[in-house]
Amino acid sequence: MSVNIPRGTQDILPGTVEKWQHIEKIATDICRNYQYKEIRTPIFEHTELFQRNVGDTTDIVQKEMYTFTDRGDRSLTLRPEGTAAVVRSFVENKMFGDPNQPVKLYYNGPMFRYERPQSGRYRQFVQFGVEAIGSEDPAIDAEVLALVMDIYQTAGLQKIELVINSLGDTDSRTAHREALVNHFQPRIGEFCTDCQSRLEKNPLRILDCKKDRDHELMKSAPSILDFLNDYSRTYFEKVQSYLTALEIEFTVDPTLVRGLDYYNHTAFEIMSNAEGFGAITTLCGGGRYNGLVSQMGGPDVPGIGFAFSMERFLAAIEAEGIEWQEENRLDCFVASLGEEAKDYTVKLVHDLRKAGIKAERDYQNRKMKAQFKAADRLKARFVAILGEDELKENKINVKDMETGEQQEVALAELTETLLKKVEAK
Ligand code: HAM
Repeated sequence: MSVNIPRGTQDILPGTVEKWQHIEKIATDICRNYQYKEIRTPIFEHTELFQRNVGDTTDIVQKEMYTFTDRGDRSLTLRPEGTAAVVRSFVENKMFGDPNQPVKLYYNGPMFRYERPQSGRYRQFVQFGVEAIGSEDPAIDAEVLALVMDIYQTAGLQKIELVINSLGDTDSRTAHREALVNHFQPRIGEFCTDCQSRLEKNPLRILDCKKDRDHELMKSAPSILDFLNDYSRTYFEKVQSYLTALEIEFTVDPTLVRGLDYYNHTAFEIMSNAEGFGAITTLCGGGRYNGLVSQMGGPDVPGIGFAFSMERFLAAIEAEGIEWQEENRLDCFVASLGEEAKDYTVKLVHDLRKAGIKAERDYQNRKMKAQFKAADRLKARFVAILGEDELKENKINVKDMETGEQQEVALAELTETLLKKVEAK
């Protein structure tokens, strides 16, 4: 019987996993610099969490959730995104009572959406995200944006573009919503059935429709920026002035709408302009979600965050041709000749590893030449050669694979010698 991997998922194999670890390290190190702490929430949650809080007019909730009933007849859903769960946890664990506010969190884990798979779009993908909950200072909006740009730039990405918008507060959005309804209503029959139902539920999402993207009413639709009230306008201006102070380039796009319903005020996306990145150019998305915490039964506490997928991050790195040194290079391959020497290397390799040296040996009973070939393939910096004669004399030969130099050292001194040599490299 042969079973294949499910559609829209992928195995991350050795050779590629190191690339993941590389960018995970960059992202987590930078989060620590900015004082964000890791949070881990369950892979599945009560379906209601997403339906009520991600917004039941979104494609994510309507069409893309992996929902199932468990044996206790509960409706559960594999999380399609991280924000709702983090906010749930914030409320459930009363993090609003923590004297350190805002609560600054990051997460890194698999998300699930039943989408049509294509390059850069999977059914299981890994999101790295950040949520800062508990402050309505535009400086935290700028900080969150600075953080994600810092991650991308540290990884070497250059061809990226930050696009921001303001969705305003409730008052601004209500006024804009009315203008949108008036704009689309007379000709809503020309739009897809999804847009027709969006007109009632959430007309802003019509602007995000892929099917009707080119309809002439889209271009002439009223801009949210014309409907921002004083508070929302000043807030947005302040965010922009902080970004300028941080020397973060951005463009304002009043048509930017996000695919989730909980946003207000600052909304943003980061795109890749790299040639060959593919049709889907969005690397990262996020924004402010004041109101989500209280919707989940917590106090009226604001929040902002972003998430990007590791898959698209890596695709952008590849598209820009960025390379980096593999960190887990083998320090020493221990080659042996003869049964007795082979037995001896069991403990020898163990001792090297315990001393922090990356060490490997042969497990295939290979001849000396084949052992050297294996060492080459593994890019060993040194090969330690132990034959019967050396063993008798309590010695071992250490060959520097870069220079070809060989040195005979006492077996008892191998660890110390290698430690020095590895450090000197
Ligand atoms: P989102 O825009 O739905 O926002 O997703 C954020 C990012 O996840 C996207 O920009 C993309 O990098 C990645 N992504 C989404 N779907 C897929 C997919 N099918 N395959 C690969 N990558 C994908 C959110 O999820 C919000 N929770 C972000 C947020 C955090 N807002 C505030 N805080």
